[in-house]
Amino acid sequence: MAKKNTKTETTETALRQPSEVKYAEELAWLESIDDGAKPFSWRLSPKMVRIFVLGSTPGDKLDRAVEQKWFGHPSIVERAIVTLASDRGLLLIGDPGTGKSWLAELLAAAISANSTHVVQGTAGTTEDQIKYSWNVAMVIAAGQSKESMIPSPIMTSMQRGELGRFEELTRCTSDVQDALISILSEKYIMIPELKGDNVVFAKPGFNIIATANSRDRGSTTSPAPSSAGSTSSTSPWSRTSAPRRRS
Ligand SMILES: Nc1ncnc2c1ncn2[C@@H]1O[C@H](COP(=O)(O)OP(=O)(O)OP(=O)(O)O)[C@@H](O)[C@H]1O
Ligand SMILES: [Mg+2]
Repeated sequence: MAKKNTKTETTETALRQPSEVKYAEELAWLESIDDGAKPFSWRLSPKMVRIFVLGSTPGDKLDRAVEQKWFGHPSIVERAIVTLASDRGLLLIGDPGTGKSWLAELLAAAISANSTHVVQGTAGTTEDQIKYSWNVAMVIAAGQSKESMIPSPIMTSMQRGELGRFEELTRCTSDVQDALISILSEKYIMIPELKGDNVVFAKPGFNIIATANSRDRGSTTSPAPSSAGSTSSTSPWSRTSAPRRRS
């Protein structure tokens, strides 16, 4: 019996598909009719990203309707897109279950065609998890080299010029938050263990969408977002608040 294509098999059997797979056909159609300017290596122009997330209106004069995927104030989505297009990191803050992660996924799918470079932040998240770690067996066998290095999802997104996602940023220690801010502003990661070729530079298109739960203690007291400053023009983060739940 012929062997099935692994990618097709994954798509058919996956319990939950990432947005770029679930909406692959719609994204490809939007790309085909998109004549707007695209920042960096974006797949869609900012206008088409907005239509993908918020749905189309008759005023858009499209041949087919695009369904609304994220519900909330359109200005939140617009500010998020402008932030990413102007090469600043995006921090989505809001109450639990208001769609922060969902919006981050939709934006990454529309902009990079890949929403799976995700690091889940916890109190135990280490710098290795946002930078790189080592395949110990390969290091013992052949020493430390780029081949024996395991890039984190953030490093992979840098190498590919795509959006990385960092969930629950404010649950992490300030060291980890600072390391992430450093990557966002410097746009490279040093690998001091290697002798030559020991820097990984980010390709154009790399950026990070982080989320933070406003009920987490860290989201108001964390040194990362507050020291970065939400209004400073030199800040690597631009904060966008997701809607609050009505209580
Ligand atoms: N504003 C919204 N528009 C569309 N769907 C939403 C919205 N808010 C929540 N949902 C739905 O609820 C699910 C859970 O939302 P999501 O995980 O994005 O919330 P969150 O803000 O990241 O919560 P948490 O702070 O707990 O991480 C989403 O996958 C989505 O299906
Ligand atoms: Mg979330």
